[in-house]
Amino acid sequence: MALRLIAVTAFFIVAVTGAHGQQPVAAGGTPPPIEVVPNPLRGDKQSAQDGEKLFTAFNCDGCHALGAVGAVGPSLADGRWRYGGADGVIFQSIFSGRPRGMPAFGGILPPEAIWKLVTYLQSLQPAGDMSTTSWVRRP
Ligand code: HEC
Repeated sequence: MALRLIAVTAFFIVAVTGAHGQQPVAAGGTPPPIEVVPNPLRGDKQSAQDGEKLFTAFNCDGCHALGAVGAVGPSLADGRWRYGGADGVIFQSIFSGRPRGMPAFGGILPPEAIWKLVTYLQSLQPAGDMSTTSWVRRP
């Protein structure tokens, strides 16, 4: 009986705090289509330059390397995206972070600074002789 109680309690703890505990609830069951949000600074040269400075000031280059060519973190300059390269998706990668080691910067950077970072990344041109080999070790 006691064992059964423990099992039932464990089930309820998992059910209440488990997989859905940290997830936002989408109104109407429809997740917001973040990729439709446009970069308000797209193509603006000054913003791209400001973004480049932020990229160093906030140590993005500590993980993604100078020029965002990739180190511990993946390249952000090769035109290939793990999570998608639409304006709003890049914004979300920086704002909310990503599970395999990308910190969330939304708590310390205002949206305008994040859009400047997005503008900087979008201004980078992929190298002409880019490798097709992936060096990322998959779990
Ligand atoms: C502590 C190391 C670290 C720092 C600092 C860091 N990143 Fe990352 N970043 C990562 C890793 C690791 C990933 C890959 C995460 C994954 O695959 O889930 C990533 C992913 C990303 C992505 C998504 C890439 C894609 O292919 O979809 C973007 C955009 C990004 N980082 C931008 C930035 C910016 C801008 C900054 C600075 C404000 C920054 N990162 C700081 C480690 C870091």
